[in-house]
Amino acid sequence: MNGFEMTDRAVECVRKVTSFVPEIAIVLGSGLGGLADAMEVEVALTADDIEGYAKSTVSGHKGRLLFGTFAGKKAVVQQGRIHYYEGYEPERVVLPVRMMCALGAKTLILTNAAGGVNETYRSGDFMAIRGQIAQFVPSPLRGPNDERYGTRFPDMSEIYSPRLIALARESAAEAGATLREGVYLQASGPNYETPEEIRAFRILGADAVGMSTGMEAIAAKHMGAEILGISLITNPAAGVSAERLSHEQVKEAAGIASDRFLRLVEGVVKRL
Ligand code: HPA
Repeated sequence: MNGFEMTDRAVECVRKVTSFVPEIAIVLGSGLGGLADAMEVEVALTADDIEGYAKSTVSGHKGRLLFGTFAGKKAVVQQGRIHYYEGYEPERVVLPVRMMCALGAKTLILTNAAGGVNETYRSGDFMAIRGQIAQFVPSPLRGPNDERYGTRFPDMSEIYSPRLIALARESAAEAGATLREGVYLQASGPNYETPEEIRAFRILGADAVGMSTGMEAIAAKHMGAEILGISLITNPAAGVSAERLSHEQVKEAAGIASDRFLRLVEGVVKRL
């Protein structure tokens, strides 16, 4: 079964349970799990309810799909992201995003924790993703294409919506949060990068580095979604400071910023 057939099957599984049509889809990265509590949930599904839906194996990531109202909009929220480094094939990494778009979501908000490659970035800053570099991981579109989903050779010159970035700017100003705008580079993980790799990524134009988002954005853009990506900078990337990197540090920094992160995303969704 190819990724699109898998998505069709996953949509069928959801449709057996609910006819909910979301306006927006949100993927929660580290630190945004609390968004689920700010939501009026109508239906909650787990990975077990949806054929092909992979289980997140990462601590701090719950595997649930929530349907309900968030900031006044009908939303579907993926709590528990699937990462390429967990060993899943690209089509399974992007299955939740494809499925949420196929269920009706026209707007997709991707969030993540990231390391600051840009030396002016500070832990706790947010970055609206203006562009991305994802050639260090395989394209999720590799393999047979399905024209019902999108074209064989989709244009990627503007993956992230300038309109949504403008809304994020307004929301950040209201929330008193620092919002940078820059380029996100998806590294394969699960090891953190070396200082040499970070120097190379900086030369390539990256401002932030993480282990998610790029592949999901490509799959959703292929389907025509309007996309916003927001990174929470949880640490200076390797070699930017003398500090060693750890998942604990990332989770701690994400926890500290979680209220601000929630307000930032809430402000964007309200403005849609
Ligand atoms: N590198 C990759 N992924 C990350 C980092 C990092 O420094 N911080 C949070 N996620």
